[in-house]
Amino acid sequence: MTRLTITPSGPINGEIPIPGDKSITHRAVILSAMAEGTCTIRDYCNGEDCFRTINAIRALGISIEEKSTELRVSGKGLRGFSEPQHILDCGNSGTSMRLLTGLLTGQNFFSVLTGDSSLRQRPMGRIITPLRQMGATISGRQGGEFAPIAIQGTRLQATSYTSPIPSAQVKSSILIASLLAEHPTTFCEPARSRDHTERALQHFGVHLDYKSDTVIHLTPSSLVAKDLTVPGDFSSAAFFIVAGLIVPDSRITIRNVGLNQTRIGLLDILKIMGASIQILDIHNNAGEPVGDIYVQSSQLEGAEIDPKNMLRAIDEFPILCVAAAFAKGQTRITGMEDLRVKESDRIATMTQSLRRVGVDVDEHQDGIVIRGGTRLRGTECSSYGDHRVAMAMAIAALNASETTTLTNIDCIQTSFPSFLNEFQKIAPACLVETS
Ligand code: S3P
Repeated sequence: MTRLTITPSGPINGEIPIPGDKSITHRAVILSAMAEGTCTIRDYCNGEDCFRTINAIRALGISIEEKSTELRVSGKGLRGFSEPQHILDCGNSGTSMRLLTGLLTGQNFFSVLTGDSSLRQRPMGRIITPLRQMGATISGRQGGEFAPIAIQGTRLQATSYTSPIPSAQVKSSILIASLLAEHPTTFCEPARSRDHTERALQHFGVHLDYKSDTVIHLTPSSLVAKDLTVPGDFSSAAFFIVAGLIVPDSRITIRNVGLNQTRIGLLDILKIMGASIQILDIHNNAGEPVGDIYVQSSQLEGAEIDPKNMLRAIDEFPILCVAAAFAKGQTRITGMEDLRVKESDRIATMTQSLRRVGVDVDEHQDGIVIRGGTRLRGTECSSYGDHRVAMAMAIAALNASETTTLTNIDCIQTSFPSFLNEFQKIAPACLVETS
């Protein structure tokens, strides 16, 4: 069990390197395994979550060679997978479980997926219902609502499905299964969720028809192997963006960050709150926009957060709560009930974490109200086993009035293994202890 003791730091200056995008890495690994031929994936995310997907794909008979900054995946086509001999363990990774289920339902063998105690409590009915509509044979605890999930692969039929929630994991699970169906599938969502699967499919030569911003028509086809470079993960950059804003006299640069519009709602929110952030050198990388981010410390003001922006900042809720705690006045986030079924119940865990450090917070079923601007006190906080809560509270502690101790921070390894290294560079007085 690792704990981190943080003594407030001085200004932060310079460049901060961040890992490759976690969402894109999952998709690159799964889709290159479904492609015909060998594909090199550069600058992949080396977090534990991505290794859950990598190791599951290996257990399905696909060779993945691993070097420090690249993976070589030898794809065998849509149905080149073989029956795994063991249960596939997705650990803490919802993306692994939901996307792999889409892939496995259309194969011709039996497989079982499970995960850690957090993942086994997360809703799976949202993918099982549409996959069953496609003819999939899947069972799970409580009628298929929770993992472990057992899948007897079968030939899938096409479907036309309207998802009740905007979820990229639901959309991606169905689009991946659709590649294995007999006829074209139409998928509709209430608002556009992150679109990395669609962009990656197009990169691998699949034709997608957008009937509108939220309605996709996919005609099954084979995938052609093509190398790709994964952009830096905006969701990892977000922690240091907020660090640069809340620690006085800081100036930081983060290069080669993915700037997909479906992911960067936090930039728009922070700008409305008064943040000084500049984006330069935007270019295209395997269908994804990438650029450099410059941040200068700023006095933030509280704001009413537009749920449309928040949907594009779904994983940034913990660090946005920290920004709001340092902003003058009230910040209100609404319409985000799905945050209760992430790696932790993030509305509850952020309410409790901020209250412990002295912030005035109201918890609501679908969001939070934070009255910020008073000095945070130092105390002991837990990560609740959630990597994003851990990193958000570590950043908050950089500008608290006293020393903070954060416990149970091993979970940071799921998305950002180099976080503690980078953190120690900006806060040299912090102490990492493993017991
Ligand atoms: C993800 C989609 C989002 C996000 C998660 C990663 C993905 O979840 O919260 O961390 O890679 O597709 P939902 O699709 O459930 O909103």
